[in-house]
Amino acid sequence: MPADKKHRILLVDDDEGILKSLVRLLKELEVDIVTATSGAEALKIIKDQEVSLIVSDQRMPGMTGVELLGQCREISPNTIRILLTGYADLDATVNAINTGSVRYYLNKPWEDDFLLSRIRDSLELFETSAENLRLTELTKKQNQKLIGFAQTLQQKVDEQTDEIKTQNMELKKSFMETIKAFSTIVGLRLQDVASHSQRVAALAKMLLGGLDLNEKDYQDVVVAAYLHDIGKIGIPSAIAVKASDDCSPHEKEVLYKHPILGQSCVYNISGFEEIGLIIRHHHECFDGTGYPDRLIGEKIPLGSRILHICDAFDHTSHKADYPDLKALSHATASLHRYAGSHFDPDLVKTFASLDIASQFYHDNSHGVIGLKPEDLREGMVVAMDIRTVNNVFLLPKGAKLSTGMIGRIMKIHAVDPIIEAIRVYNQSVKTEKEHVSA
Ligand SMILES: [Fe+2]
Ligand SMILES: [Fe+2]
Repeated sequence: MPADKKHRILLVDDDEGILKSLVRLLKELEVDIVTATSGAEALKIIKDQEVSLIVSDQRMPGMTGVELLGQCREISPNTIRILLTGYADLDATVNAINTGSVRYYLNKPWEDDFLLSRIRDSLELFETSAENLRLTELTKKQNQKLIGFAQTLQQKVDEQTDEIKTQNMELKKSFMETIKAFSTIVGLRLQDVASHSQRVAALAKMLLGGLDLNEKDYQDVVVAAYLHDIGKIGIPSAIAVKASDDCSPHEKEVLYKHPILGQSCVYNISGFEEIGLIIRHHHECFDGTGYPDRLIGEKIPLGSRILHICDAFDHTSHKADYPDLKALSHATASLHRYAGSHFDPDLVKTFASLDIASQFYHDNSHGVIGLKPEDLREGMVVAMDIRTVNNVFLLPKGAKLSTGMIGRIMKIHAVDPIIEAIRVYNQSVKTEKEHVSA
């Protein structure tokens, strides 16, 4: 189409005289005009060129106007279609309009002004449709771009979320390792405190499994469990290792300071306020007869009430090196006996319902064997605390060995050897009992 022309009109009539008249009439429109004397010739033009408007005679040999415009709609749906027809073809014309093949029809002979005005309307309609089509396509493309952008953005958010999650997990892991290291430091001076703390933490995790705490409160209790007796480092060893019942009144006075000393150890660590409180009150009794502040009932922080139960259970059940079912059931019975006086009765019920005691039982019927670090295997259960030659506490009895634990033991063994045989339960016959994971 010439650059200065916006539209191309195709005129189709087997009568060349009529075509000439139409061309003359449309000259004032400043459009590109092409003509065809048959349907077949017209279809070829439509296939090759963009046509805004086709005006076709109805009666032509070979192909009627209605047939031509029907095919034109298939090839170029946006082209506006006008049929020139006589009264004799009215039925076929109306049918063609109804089926959408023809947009308008004009009777022959036509009135010039009327024909020109219809053609102008048709060209405007073509422009509007073309603009609509252009805008629809543009919107589609922009939508696709937006969808693509949103997907890329979501992908980036997902990637960053995964990265943050991984970093959080690593931070959390190294945080807990640091807490365990604190517990180990205490164990350098007070051998049993470190293993006791690890078992109390394992018990607390089991009991927490039956409660509905949020992640922060859960972690506070676990951290407090590892550190609950850290204050014992500040009192004489001879008193720190004694059970309360074996202490003289003066010794009791000294021993009873360890929860407050423990709280002061973590007092200045940002975010440890709740942990400090749990440590301070882990020897408070439910009936207000505990220490150091004689708090009563639910005024005692929940974490402290949890630790009091786990602490007492561990002291009672682990008097023997290898607690048997009798020792464990004795420890559970003791919790029931003091439920409501020493311990929160609801928590004792939860403790009993979770059958935690049996999870601390390890079948000793096949004995205990001593192994070198390199002979340890995943799944073995430690029967006696593992310590290095320098008395660095590594794992408590009851811990079920994982590959990671064995790897850490081997690394520490390389710098600070474990000279005594590592005692594990002989598992030549497998027990179905669950084992405590430290
Ligand atoms: Fe304590
Ligand atoms: Fe304790």
